[in-house]
Amino acid sequence: MKKILVLGGAGFIGRNIVKELVSNGHFVTSADIKESQELENLKNSSNGDNLEIFTADFSDPSSFRILRESYDELYMLAAVVGVNRTLKNPEEVVRINTSLTMNTLNYVRENPVKKILFSSSSENYAGTSDLFNAQIPTDEDVPLCISDVKHPRWTYAMTKMHGELAFLHCAKAYNFKCTIVRYQNIIGPNMGFGHAIPHIVERFCKLSDKVFKIYGHDQTRAFCFIDDAVKGTILSMESLKADGEIYHIGKDEEISMSELCLFIGEIMGYKGKYENAMTYPGSVARRCPDITKAKNDLKYNPEFSWKDSVKKTVNWYRDFFESGRNPDSGGFEPPEQVMRSYD
Ligand SMILES: NC(=O)c1ccc[n+]([C@@H]2O[C@H](COP(=O)([O-])OP(=O)(O)OC[C@H]3O[C@@H](n4cnc5c(N)ncnc54)[C@H](O)[C@@H]3O)[C@@H](O)[C@H]2O)c1
Repeated sequence: MKKILVLGGAGFIGRNIVKELVSNGHFVTSADIKESQELENLKNSSNGDNLEIFTADFSDPSSFRILRESYDELYMLAAVVGVNRTLKNPEEVVRINTSLTMNTLNYVRENPVKKILFSSSSENYAGTSDLFNAQIPTDEDVPLCISDVKHPRWTYAMTKMHGELAFLHCAKAYNFKCTIVRYQNIIGPNMGFGHAIPHIVERFCKLSDKVFKIYGHDQTRAFCFIDDAVKGTILSMESLKADGEIYHIGKDEEISMSELCLFIGEIMGYKGKYENAMTYPGSVARRCPDITKAKNDLKYNPEFSWKDSVKKTVNWYRDFFESGRNPDSGGFEPPEQVMRSYD
């Protein structure tokens, strides 16, 4: 039984990793600024003794005092995420995400942790894709790039590049092994509300006119189901080959926003018209990861097709919106409105 810390354990990817690690028989500490009902339920289940939950703001270094004195493994997933939050509060993205990285490293200097996995993002090479025609599907050797320092969108990517460098280069000095995973559009039930698929379902559920706007119709993305991402993350943590390496964890099926919206419309039984429309400011034109390295090194083999992944995700959000509930935060805001508040 390993002793494992998951920072950001109440988040979408975090709580699914926590559940898997607990069911694999490990002792897990979940640390997050927010609470999670799913983790509370797990705590009250037969496996509950293997889970410890701490709720605190870990951008404050003193919060780390509540943790144990050592861990075998640390999954560093805590971050402020979401395009709209990044556009509206770039100063918070910079402060919180870089503090979380530096506070974690300061904790590890004093408290032995054998291995750390840092969660990074495909945003790190979005600038390279748009400006320098990076190869698509894109592998881990792609140069990282911020295309416009003055655009708030890039604050998030900057904090992820900072995290990659900080963890990789402190590993030797602070005596821990380290792996970076760059997640690529991970989706699934209850993934939060600040993402494309929840927004599309919300819009279909609340559609008042007979035309559905397809924002960024010719842009492409590749969606990966949460169960596959959890497997890829744990393989990245546990494989000896992964030490000091970076992996793209996602799925290599590139689809356009038009294909995505038409498929979701079909699931939702929508019979009306579609119209192509603008996209969010700074949004990358194409994205699809090359996952060959993870397949070869880790035997990572995502099982869920994009259609199965999208369907499972859409069904959860359709139930949510059709029950009359509304998200506390992160709901849909049209690009036209986000653009205005940015200008
Ligand atoms: N989901 C994806 O497709 C994707 C893509 C690229 C990168 N990532 C990265 O993976 C990680 C997990 O993403 P996710 O989709 O689960 O997002 P999420 O927002 O659901 O999870 C992040 C968690 O971090 C926590 N957090 C934020 N500030 C904190 C603070 N000050 N102290 C303690 N906890 C704090 C949040 O409460 C949240 O539970 C993030 O670092 C994200 O940047 C995710």
